[in-house]
Amino acid sequence: MGVPVIVDCDPGTDDVAALVLAHALAQRGDLDVAAVTTVAGNVDVEQATRNALDVVGLLGWDVPVARGAAKPLVADLVTAAEIHGTDGLLGVELPTSSRVADGRPAWQVMRDVAASSDQPIDVVATGPLTNVAVALATYPELGERLRRVVVMGGAFLAGNTTPAAEFNVYVYPEAAQRVFTSGVPFWLCPLDVTHEAYITADELGQARALGSPGAVLFADVIGRYLPLVARYSGGRGAALHDPLAVVYAADDSLCTSAECFVGVETRGSITRGMTVTDRYSDTKLERNGHLVETVDRAAFVARVLDLLAVG
Ligand code: BDR
Ligand code: CA
Repeated sequence: MGVPVIVDCDPGTDDVAALVLAHALAQRGDLDVAAVTTVAGNVDVEQATRNALDVVGLLGWDVPVARGAAKPLVADLVTAAEIHGTDGLLGVELPTSSRVADGRPAWQVMRDVAASSDQPIDVVATGPLTNVAVALATYPELGERLRRVVVMGGAFLAGNTTPAAEFNVYVYPEAAQRVFTSGVPFWLCPLDVTHEAYITADELGQARALGSPGAVLFADVIGRYLPLVARYSGGRGAALHDPLAVVYAADDSLCTSAECFVGVETRGSITRGMTVTDRYSDTKLERNGHLVETVDRAAFVARVLDLLAVG
């Protein structure tokens, strides 16, 4: 098998879509998913965990699901019910799975998977970075055992939660800053690229027609989310934020990226949670991460549809 990967998520409609794709990539042998961990973000952590368990149950996916942090350590939780609904699924009903969450917290699962692997592991984070930051703080040796973190988060042109900040970073900017200054290599998929990774209504129809449980679930949740978010992608479709991060973790050939400084504003009165990058200035800030900058949308959507045929 390849590098073990943990998907750390806050499902959430597009997180559900990302889990469907992670399962298909695992089925194909393109992503060795060792665990799914949940974090409070789009919805509270109990709902996020319920949704993750029900998704893996529906897919018949034998992967552990572990509950993570219920809130940021230093701030109140901000959720995104206006985009994902209070159930995180915009009312799409899933059969209640008999699966139960792993008894360990998310950060312990990250440590255990890393410790038992013969090679450093990957984390794909599609929610606030609370669990990853707690894991790094609790287990200082873990940093050496992480090959990379692929993060859906940040915005360089404009935020979606505030004018300056993207949701995942805005919920807990200190956690994001902790991860970005940890020395662990990271790749950031910000809104600037995920808004270009959109799927149209016609393409969603093609997804639904594939007929597999995963394809139908993907089309159901993204179909309800599309009208709420189409404006962010110029009215062209629904941005597949979290799916892009998961697919990128398996195949980076669909995107271009650049190594650069990435920092997080944690104090600004109107810029809290803003991600700041040094792409063009000559200040020579130390390059601590990688910014994913462009996506071949046609190739990405073709890959998504190909994966949805798997199930
Ligand atoms: C990110 O925020 C959440 O609402 C989505 O699931 C995605 O992870 C986009 O800003
Ligand atoms: Ca998410």
